[in-house]
Amino acid sequence: MPIPATPFIWFNGKLVPWEKATVHVLSHALHYGSSVFEGVRAYQTPTGVAIFRLKDHTRRLFDSAKIYRIQMPFGPDAVNDACHQVIAANELKRGAYLRPVAFRGYGEIGVSPKNDPPTEVAVAAWEWGRYLGSHEGEAVGVDVCISSWNRVAPNTLPALAKAGGNYLSSQLIASEARRLGFAEGIGLAPDGTLSEGSGENLFLVKDGILLTPALAHSVLGGLTRDTVIRLARERGIEVRESALPRELLYICDEAFFTGTAVEITAIRSVDRLTVGDGKIGPVTSALQSAFYGLFSGKTPDKWGWLDHVDMSAPKVAASG
Ligand SMILES: Cc1ncc(COP(=O)(O)O)c(C=O)c1O
Repeated sequence: MPIPATPFIWFNGKLVPWEKATVHVLSHALHYGSSVFEGVRAYQTPTGVAIFRLKDHTRRLFDSAKIYRIQMPFGPDAVNDACHQVIAANELKRGAYLRPVAFRGYGEIGVSPKNDPPTEVAVAAWEWGRYLGSHEGEAVGVDVCISSWNRVAPNTLPALAKAGGNYLSSQLIASEARRLGFAEGIGLAPDGTLSEGSGENLFLVKDGILLTPALAHSVLGGLTRDTVIRLARERGIEVRESALPRELLYICDEAFFTGTAVEITAIRSVDRLTVGDGKIGPVTSALQSAFYGLFSGKTPDKWGWLDHVDMSAPKVAASG
């Protein structure tokens, strides 16, 4: 589905018309993958539109830039403010998906030029629904496979950085899975243990214990992952972050993905083997309710994760 355009994108410090937020074909990032980005959701809540864990996403954006030594021309407050601006200026009252991105732009060419090309920063936002398929996927779970492609090995590409180039690995995993008729693929870590989906973290439930690959297993430190771990512990569910053998996925009671795009999506089968009894299990269901309750008001936001947007904020004069 094409991206549903909104009137404005925040680009290098100001709001510009959507179609004017363009870059030069010789931009460094286009050739060498030198971008860092975030995927953030804003939800419609009973107390207005709120961005979920915005400061944590912005922190990860700056961490990703630090790992790749990309100089940021704006501070975190400016990026947070830009996220608020694109929601208010585009009147995204029903919530939105936000895409902050920073990248090495147009300057010198070469992998590591003498003078770093200037970093460009943009934040776009638009309405976006389900990622892995559908409301059906959410209700019954998705069918996935183990990919023939492993995730990146430690000390090759840094998995904790959410960087454009890292997503070549994700593209291989996701496109293979979809070619084979699955909704998503799961990559193994280089040691053959479970890692994560192409754009989601992975959780298993076995005998009431919630299991997820530890950060050392080539995963992105997902904010939804962290949210689920906290919500689970708060509900007395034991959580273990560790190395997990592939076959545990075939014999677990429940499995699900977490991510800003997929939120909490149950996994119905892996490599055509049904997970548990093929229905959404009690732990998955309890965590889904707790998670979505954050946005309906049923789950108290005691962590201050909801960052409310002032929709009546004066619109910044848009310029071309
Ligand atoms: C590779 C990968 N793993 C995990 C995640 C989940 O992270 P988060 O929950 O912060 O969206 C994402 C999405 O950003 C991702 O791209």
